Amino acid sequence: MIHKPARRIEAIEPSIFATMSRLAIEHAAVNLGQGFPDFDGPSWIVEAFAGALRSEKNQYAPMHGTARLRKAVAAYQQKFYGLEWNAETEITVTAGATEALFSSMLALLDEGDEVILFEPFYDSYYANALIAGATPVCVTLHAPSFRIDEAALNAAITGRTRMIVFNNPHNPTGRVFSQDEMNVVAACARRHNLLVLSDEVYEFLTFDGKHHTSFASLPGMRTRTVSISSTGKTFGMTGWKIGFAMATGNLTNAIRTVHQFATFAVNTPAQHAMAHGLEKLHDYLPDFRILYQQKRDMLLRGLEDSILKPITPEGTYFMMVQLPSDVGDDVQCATRLVTERQVAVIPPSVFYRRSTEGQRMLRLCFAKKEETLLAGIARLQFH
Ligand SMILES: Cc1ncc(COP(=O)(O)O)c(C=O)c1O
Repeated sequence: MIHKPARRIEAIEPSIFATMSRLAIEHAAVNLGQGFPDFDGPSWIVEAFAGALRSEKNQYAPMHGTARLRKAVAAYQQKFYGLEWNAETEITVTAGATEALFSSMLALLDEGDEVILFEPFYDSYYANALIAGATPVCVTLHAPSFRIDEAALNAAITGRTRMIVFNNPHNPTGRVFSQDEMNVVAACARRHNLLVLSDEVYEFLTFDGKHHTSFASLPGMRTRTVSISSTGKTFGMTGWKIGFAMATGNLTNAIRTVHQFATFAVNTPAQHAMAHGLEKLHDYLPDFRILYQQKRDMLLRGLEDSILKPITPEGTYFMMVQLPSDVGDDVQCATRLVTERQVAVIPPSVFYRRSTEGQRMLRLCFAKKEETLLAGIARLQFH
């Protein structure tokens, strides 16, 4: 007899990423699809990891994270955003932002609750909401400005709405939302007494002198926001999966209840190494920002003469490009690019549920070595 999977995961479709990654390998493609660097993070953090291994930091960490890492998180949140999180009662270390999102949604959503997602969305929000038994309700950020539409947001709210998921800087559009747009979301949350799940994993990847504002620092948001971030993007170590959730005590207790039985404790030596990284954040960030802005600019310049029209990202390491009308949709175009031109990209229609706008774009990742970017650019030269 064939055992069927649980009904709660029936509506979760297999991801296009697996297909694209397989095609990329089969065709030995230059990979501008995968959302992670093809170069290593800082060697001084690797050394800190090795040092932790050698000094017997190899047993279970405390369930909510090592004291040193939680203190380092509290310190940078205070320094950069003026937020005072209590390291003991309000910060939980998780297996990447992915687990922080999952544990938060499971802890805070009931069956039948509605969750507002701005589309295009990072795909785990949709799946997590479904696993929690909640209903995702999408509000479209229309290309090419991808601005938050106040009327559309308000129209999506019902008596069952419980949470807004807000990702800033935003994957895949590269938007860094303005203060006005953030105020629209905050006012909506206040008016309808909603929780906000604020995914800030790209908080330090902002360009052109822009700086990130943490959502919890907006008036009235501290007690209704779960702030989520991770060290994966900031230190270019996505494989270490060190993330954290910050929220007021009662929300944190709920998140820890799920975290305790999903993950319990997170990789101990990596927590020590990332605490070291965060303690040195101030010195590390200037070069990091310059490096990624150079990569963004190289890709922008490289596409100047292509028929693919880039939408300049203000943050993250992603760039959306618009397709001309005669090249088929995003999935057809991405499939042809990987099979015929050996360059892998992501078709963003997978990040939408309401709108078909994603079919007219591609998502490129520029967290790549110069040689990878140059090879990718050469293969994207359609005229
Ligand atoms: C918007 C967003 N949130 C969360 C994550 C996952 O972060 P982590 O690797 O820390 O689990 C990613 C990774 O790509 C992301 O783009």
